[in-house]
Amino acid sequence: MQIGVVGGTGAAGSSLALRLASLGHDVFLGSRTVERAREVSTGLSSTRGLLGTIEGVSNFDAAGAELVFFCTPWDGTQSTAASLANELAGKIVVSLVNALIKVGAEMQPIFLARGSVAQSIQAVLPNSFVVSALHHVPARELGEFRRPVESDVLVCSDHEDARTKVMELLDTVPGLVSLDGGSLANSGAVEAMTAVLINLNIKYKARTALRITGLKRN
Ligand SMILES: NC(=O)c1ccc[n+]([C@@H]2O[C@H](COP(=O)([O-])OP(=O)(O)OC[C@H]3O[C@@H](n4cnc5c(N)ncnc54)[C@H](OP(=O)(O)O)[C@@H]3O)[C@@H](O)[C@H]2O)c1
Repeated sequence: MQIGVVGGTGAAGSSLALRLASLGHDVFLGSRTVERAREVSTGLSSTRGLLGTIEGVSNFDAAGAELVFFCTPWDGTQSTAASLANELAGKIVVSLVNALIKVGAEMQPIFLARGSVAQSIQAVLPNSFVVSALHHVPARELGEFRRPVESDVLVCSDHEDARTKVMELLDTVPGLVSLDGGSLANSGAVEAMTAVLINLNIKYKARTALRITGLKRN
């Protein structure tokens, strides 16, 4: 699949690009600055073992891919999405974005008027199919593609087909298990939980992830 990553030069975007390219996808890694995107993609592309490609492009060109991930800071996300509305029309847009703020030593969630970052994206992309996923998976785990990602991922969307397609894609990542997290109305709870996990990581010097108990597993 051809996959775009808006905000692809950061920790989350570049790790996701590596993981997707390791699975054979062709990734268009986006940035506000094409030179920066090319610099990052050149570095990532030199990694051995990738079955697909990583090409550095503008966020505009990344939004031209079949399916597009958003890996931007929360406060730049809605305006970036709105500026790409035409390119993203009719497509699945996957948000990893968490609205968080550091208060003293602690990370805390910010509760947005729309309820979640994912809902604020859907509001400016009425013709796209917004899905929220991967909020809790640390960039490092995502990028270390020779290792499985030992985590469940809660996937929220108001669009059943889009959610199913994203879950199928995520389930190709070794170790990762996607779970139907319901509509985008539930994404706020998922996004906010990220603050709790980051605080656990700091407190216990760990890299935590979510596993839901009580489910029948294969
Ligand atoms: N890091 C993780 O482990 C992790 C895991 C799961 C989810 N997330 C979420 O993923 C998102 C990105 O996290 P990150 O750690 O990768 O953050 P980051 O490195 O701070 O930012 C990612 C990229 O976004 C672009 N950017 C910065 N400000 C922007 C703005 N105002 N408008 C548009 N683009 C902007 C930058 O790329 P250019 O300057 O090249 O445009 C930057 O490299 C966050 O919402 C975070 O909560 C992170």
